[in-house]
Amino acid sequence: MTLDVVSLRAEFPLLARTLAGQRLVHLDCASTAPRSRRVLESIRRYHDEYTANVHRGVHPFAAEASAAYEAVRHVVATHVGASPAEVVFVRGTTEAINLVAAGLMLREGDEVVVTHAEHHSNSLPWRARATLRAVPSNDDGSPRWDRLGAQFGPRTRVCAVHHASNVLGGIAPLREIVALAHAHGVPVLVDGAQGAGHLAVDLEALDCDFYAFSGHKLGAPAGSGVLVARNGWLDRLEPTQWGGGMVATVRDDAIELRDGPHRFEPGTPNVEGVLGLAAALGLLREVGMDAVQAHGRELAAALLDGCRTLPGVRVLGDAASARIPLVSLVLPERGLDAETVARTIADASGILVSAGRHCAHGLHDRCGAAATLRASAWLVNDLDDVARFVAALRPLIA
Ligand SMILES: Cc1ncc(COP(=O)(O)O)c(C=O)c1O
Repeated sequence: MTLDVVSLRAEFPLLARTLAGQRLVHLDCASTAPRSRRVLESIRRYHDEYTANVHRGVHPFAAEASAAYEAVRHVVATHVGASPAEVVFVRGTTEAINLVAAGLMLREGDEVVVTHAEHHSNSLPWRARATLRAVPSNDDGSPRWDRLGAQFGPRTRVCAVHHASNVLGGIAPLREIVALAHAHGVPVLVDGAQGAGHLAVDLEALDCDFYAFSGHKLGAPAGSGVLVARNGWLDRLEPTQWGGGMVATVRDDAIELRDGPHRFEPGTPNVEGVLGLAAALGLLREVGMDAVQAHGRELAAALLDGCRTLPGVRVLGDAASARIPLVSLVLPERGLDAETVARTIADASGILVSAGRHCAHGLHDRCGAAATLRASAWLVNDLDDVARFVAALRPLIA
C-alpha cells in the first residue's frame, strides 16, 4: 500500500479498541471518521491553557484564543486553495448548504439543478425553497452527466452537486460541471462532505462558487465545518442568522455588518471544534493529499474486486469511474437484510459498517433497493480490513 497504515492507525486511540475479541475494522468512515491524538490534544490544550471566547475580550487568553481561531481560517484556505476571507466556519455541511440556500433569497419558481444522488442535506434545503431539476440517472444510480446541460433554464439559480457521492462513491466531474454551469451563468455549490477527506481540493483551479464540508468526516470534531464562498458571493448572500459578533456597530436607527465571513458567524462559535479542524487538516497535509488519494484508489479497487466475488451482491454506482473507497451493496433478496448483516459482522467479527438508505431515499428507490450495506474506508484502513469485510460477508449471503 502507498501509506504506512499501521503507523497511521496508531495515531487514532479509537482504533486500539478490540471488538468481538478482534482488532477493530472501522469501515464506517463516511459516517464519521475517527479522531487522531493530535485533534484530541488540540482540544485539551485549549481547555487546559487558554479557554476564552473569541473576538470579545482583551485579556491574554482571549487574544490567544482569537488568534488561534483566526489562524485556522488560513489553514483551511491553504488546504482548499481559497483566501481566508472566503472561509466561513459553520457546524458542518448541512449548515453550510442551508446558509447558502437561505442567503440566496430564492423565490417561488426558481430552479436548482441537482442529481438524484445528493444527500438529503444537499437536496432538502433547496427543495424547501425552489423547484429541483435533477440530472437523470443510469440504472446503477450514477448521474447521466451528459444530460446536465439540458437541466439549465432561465429560472436556474444554482447547480448543487456532490464532490463524491455518499452512496455510490462516484467522484463528480466537477471541472466540466462548473464550466457548463458558468456558461449558463449559474453558480455552483459543491457538497464536499465526502470529498474533502479523500481528494485534493483546489478551488482556485476548480472555480466553483461554494464548497461545503464537515470536519467530522475528516477526523475533526463534530460540529466543526466550513463554507467557502468564492467569486464575491459572501457580499451577495443575505445573512439569515443574527446576533453578537457579526456587527461592526449597532445604533437605534442603523446596523453596520462586519465584512466577510464574520457576518455569517453570529454567536459564540465552536472554538475547540475549529482548533481540532486545523489539527485534522494538519495530519492530512503531513500524509499528503496525493498519497491520501492514491491510497483511496487502492482501497476502492480492493473493495470493488472483493465485492464482485460475492454471489448475488450488486454494487451501486459506476464501477468503471473514479470513486472514493466506498461501496454500497444491494444484498440478495433471499438472505438476511442489510441491517441484520451490519449488526452481525460487528458482533461476530468486529467490523463497523452502515446499513440503511444513507439519507438518500430517492436514490435507493430509483435503484430498486430497500436498503444497502455500505463499507467506507479512509486512510486508517488497509487491504486486510477489506479482506476481513468480504470474508465476514460471504457466509451471511450464501
Ligand atoms: C454527501 C454528504 N452531504 C452532506 C452530508 C451532511 O453532513 P453533516 O451531517 O456533517 O452536515 C453528508 C453526511 O453524511 C454527506 O455524506
